[in-house]
Amino acid sequence: FNKFPGKRPPVYEGIPYVGGLIKFSKGPWKLLHDGYAKFGEVFTVPVAHKRVTFLIGPDVSPHFFKAGDDEMSQSEVYDFNVPTFGPGVVFDVEQKVRTEQFRMFTEALTKNRLKAYVPQFNKEAEEYFAKWGDEGIIDFKEEFSKLVTLTAARTLLGREVREQLFEQVADLLHGLDEGMVPISVFFPYLPIPVHRKRDRCRKELSNIFGKVIRHRRESGHREEDVLQQFIDARYQNVNGGRALTEEEITGLLIAVLFAGQHTSSITTSWTGIFMAANKEKAWLPAVEEQKAIVAKHGTNLSFEALSDMELLHRNITEALRMHPPLLLVMRYAKKPFSVTASDGKTYVIPKGDIVAASPNFSHMLPQIFKNPEKYDPDRFAPPREEQNRPYSFIGFGAGRHACIGQNFAYLQIKSIWSVLLRNFEFELLDPVPDADYESMVIGPKSCRVKFNRRKLL
Ligand code: HEM
Repeated sequence: FNKFPGKRPPVYEGIPYVGGLIKFSKGPWKLLHDGYAKFGEVFTVPVAHKRVTFLIGPDVSPHFFKAGDDEMSQSEVYDFNVPTFGPGVVFDVEQKVRTEQFRMFTEALTKNRLKAYVPQFNKEAEEYFAKWGDEGIIDFKEEFSKLVTLTAARTLLGREVREQLFEQVADLLHGLDEGMVPISVFFPYLPIPVHRKRDRCRKELSNIFGKVIRHRRESGHREEDVLQQFIDARYQNVNGGRALTEEEITGLLIAVLFAGQHTSSITTSWTGIFMAANKEKAWLPAVEEQKAIVAKHGTNLSFEALSDMELLHRNITEALRMHPPLLLVMRYAKKPFSVTASDGKTYVIPKGDIVAASPNFSHMLPQIFKNPEKYDPDRFAPPREEQNRPYSFIGFGAGRHACIGQNFAYLQIKSIWSVLLRNFEFELLDPVPDADYESMVIGPKSCRVKFNRRKLL
């Protein structure tokens, strides 16, 4: 009795053992691009001693996104993050502990919590852009990376870090970032200089956050930030219901930063690049929407006002469709399973394969997204709503492990773009840039933008 009829997926042959590893380490975009062109939705790439099976598009990915962790597991493929996040959290703990830690993330980002973070988003954005002159030339990517780091410091790490320790913490976080290079995915403990620096920075962050956490716990001082939520959190069904240790809180904060910071700043950049490049279809309607929002809510960028910005929302979603910052989401197949491609062929994916879905490739399927190369935010508006088919829009992942920070990200990006739409005009001095597929989190290559301060409303 064969529970899984069908054959193995086609294999992308001809990649030498080491060559595959090197190719993969340089960023797997090219491999994926060639494999997809040759085989379509399902194919396997041998990488060193492992097999990586790609599943592209909604026909072949429901199991990937829906299955439980006992079938599609994260820890085997994401445990390269352990030296960065630190011990005792996320991929360094067993599943039932991780589930509780993800619950703590979710509880730190509920609607009521988000309402408390919105004024902090606004304050950071307003202060940041107040420092720009009346006109000048900037690169969105650099500017938004700085602004999102400042905002993350305030909303996630807390007032102490934002107001007294920012430069020092930002440097240490940068050291952690630099320690995450493609080869780290395969050899996270390789004794190379960037990994050694990563380990020193991680230790120093522990010392700094440890002091802040101890001070809050001992003084009873409270703040409206994610740090406070982690300080207050308790395990429920594991670890005897205790509170998180200082080391665990440090690790969870770093994990949230890694999940949310570059992804958000890159999406903020693409949103601006595409709106500026599409004056008539995107920028001017977005300015009109801001006028309507001011007429309805006043000038205050409240949670409700931001939530009402549907057109800006669609621009952000379309920027994320065109350029999702995470090229791959991955799992480890703990059990075999079968998928049926859109041509009706069924393939069996064996136990032990690394399985990967790719937002970048799924978002470019013309049968799902009409004229996928074209920037067209209206594709998400009724009656088209092209994202409605399950597992078609996967910029935030989907299913069991969909992004926990999605609403946080939309609110923050909307806050930034509302301030800018109301106070500036932009002109791209370069063509819309390509994505830099060689970095870990994929963002735009540099693109100069001219800005003019003009009080638009
Ligand atoms: C998961 C994308 C912002 C926290 C994910 C996943 C994607 C994603 C694709 C799924 C990963 C997988 O299936 O393996 C993004 C993008 C963002 C963003 C594009 C910004 C535009 C944020 C923010 C936070 C956050 C701001 C936190 C404040 C998380 C967490 C998970 C996650 C904790 C893990 C969920 C789980 O495994 O159950 N994100 N994210 N993300 N994201 Fe985000």
